Amino acid sequence: MQLEKKLLVEIAWEVCNQVGGIYTVIRSKAPAMVDIWGDNYCLIGPMFPGKMPAEFEPTDKYNDAFGRAVLKMQKLGFEVHYGYWLVSGKPKVILINFAPIYSRLHEVKYFLWENHKIDTSSFDELVDQTIAFGETVKQLLEQLAQPGTTTKKIHAHFHEWMVGTPIAHIKKNALPIKTVFTTHATQLGRYLATTTPRFYDILPGVNWEKEARRFNCLSKVLIERSAAQNADVFTTVSEITGSECEILIGRKPDVITPNGINIERFVALHEFQNLHVEYKQKINQFVMGHFFHNYSFDLENTLYFFTSGRFEYVNKGFDLTIDAIDRLNKKMKKSGIDVTVVLFIITKQEYHSINSKVLHSRALMEEVRDTCTAIRKQVGDKLFLASAYNPDQKMPALNDFVDDYWKLRLRRTLLSWKNDELPYIVTHDLVDNHNDQIVNHLRRVNMVNEKNDRVKIVYHPDFISPTNPLFGLEYHQFIRGCHLGVFPSYYEPWGYTPLECIASGIPTVTSDLSGFGDYVLSNLPSEESHGIYIVRRRHNDYTKAAESLANMLFSFVQLTRRERISQRNMVESSSENFDWKYLVKYYRDAYQLIIEDDSVTEEI
Ligand code: G6P
Ligand code: GLC
Repeated sequence: MQLEKKLLVEIAWEVCNQVGGIYTVIRSKAPAMVDIWGDNYCLIGPMFPGKMPAEFEPTDKYNDAFGRAVLKMQKLGFEVHYGYWLVSGKPKVILINFAPIYSRLHEVKYFLWENHKIDTSSFDELVDQTIAFGETVKQLLEQLAQPGTTTKKIHAHFHEWMVGTPIAHIKKNALPIKTVFTTHATQLGRYLATTTPRFYDILPGVNWEKEARRFNCLSKVLIERSAAQNADVFTTVSEITGSECEILIGRKPDVITPNGINIERFVALHEFQNLHVEYKQKINQFVMGHFFHNYSFDLENTLYFFTSGRFEYVNKGFDLTIDAIDRLNKKMKKSGIDVTVVLFIITKQEYHSINSKVLHSRALMEEVRDTCTAIRKQVGDKLFLASAYNPDQKMPALNDFVDDYWKLRLRRTLLSWKNDELPYIVTHDLVDNHNDQIVNHLRRVNMVNEKNDRVKIVYHPDFISPTNPLFGLEYHQFIRGCHLGVFPSYYEPWGYTPLECIASGIPTVTSDLSGFGDYVLSNLPSEESHGIYIVRRRHNDYTKAAESLANMLFSFVQLTRRERISQRNMVESSSENFDWKYLVKYYRDAYQLIIEDDSVTEEI
């Protein structure tokens, strides 16, 4: 393909606007796209009134096709910004304020119905926002396609239903623009999987319209179907979601475009192992503050597991993780193995604040540490003096070097820190503690951080950020400090969380129902998938899957340190397979189909 004769615009709701995984897709892919398309590549995203994203840098150079289209839009009265997305690759980006469309939204909605039979009459704020944004994108693309703007052929790649409305218009009006639509899930799939125990078995018989009405998401589903069915090329992120699309969206994807990541490997292999220890020590601090007021355990023999993601209790496999961890606890108790596991559950639920007792315990532990530091200094200073002086060459009695003041202070702090209260399972005060599915499940299986439990639980209902006083770590640092990521999803078109683990050199559990796990099973030679544990859920019932996950975890806790280190090395080197520099080839395949469609034989 002669790229200098083509323009590629990629449109997504999550350009410069992080909501979920699509942000990671677009952002991490940017360097590979800029490498291939150079100046002919530009992203388009929404601008929320009055909120210019910090990651956007405006430009005043409008002397290319995108700039000319932006100027034309500005002339028409739109607030459109042109510049760069300040992420690696620094792609060009156009941000459009969609709010002015609101005054005539009813008219835009009327035309969606009249021309494309998309009914958006019921109220949904997100749907309204996306329709308004779609209208501005449509107009921008019309300006871009005018002969005075460019003579190049235009490819427009849309991600997910949120930006799907312009596609049918482009087709109906035969605009000189070729379209690609990628969906990252199906709207109905997400809802159905949560509520239907044997979702994959009932899938073939689903009546999409009936279900869309039942879940009150008909507008979204109509937009999704219209985008997929009218696009020149349709793609999704995994084979699993591909089969779901055939049934729920009515079109089989032409290409599967799996998600990659930017792999930044260290020149020195041991560097990521050092980081593991550095961040593990930070997690150790948290664990001491959280548990040691009541009982302690040997941190050298403690393993940190974590699961994380949006609060989708069934879809993300939080339910299965808790049942498996309960089984693991019993297996470990029975075998008498001298290892402690702490499972961190990191997700987002509404809370009032961090639990004051959790904070207090942490603060008291810090005071114990400060007291110990003061004592160490005092002992050190006095020991030096005594040793230098030391007329009779005897080992000085260290105890004598500590003032009564410090002894008393240490004793007092320890007294106020230590108590019999069981370490909390939740770090925050939840708004709806009584109905929280995770809390209730933990109580039901009686996983409440008893002293003799081999597996302890820390449920942190907020994403991790360095400003959070409990860990003081970035999320990616937290991952590095752990030993295993546990993500046995039930519904997961792709799933970045396990991929983020292996990119950090941390082993991970995924499932054969997640796009990532399925990709590993079909594409990675078994010698490259060490440390990527795949729970079989597709043909196993829930109980079998829970037992099988428990067995995986049990074999993991029995690894020696040496085995863990070597597994981390293997995992880290297999992450290379997921670098965009390889996976971008599937995007090329999608664009190649447009060219074949054009009946021009050109090579990409
Ligand atoms: C890294 C470090 C080693 C350390 C090990 C701990 O590999 O380079 O020095 O002993 O981590 O591993 P563990 O799995 O016990 O946290
Ligand atoms: C959606 C899917 C998720 C995927 C992401 C990026 O959020 O639910 O599985 O990783 O899109 O494609």
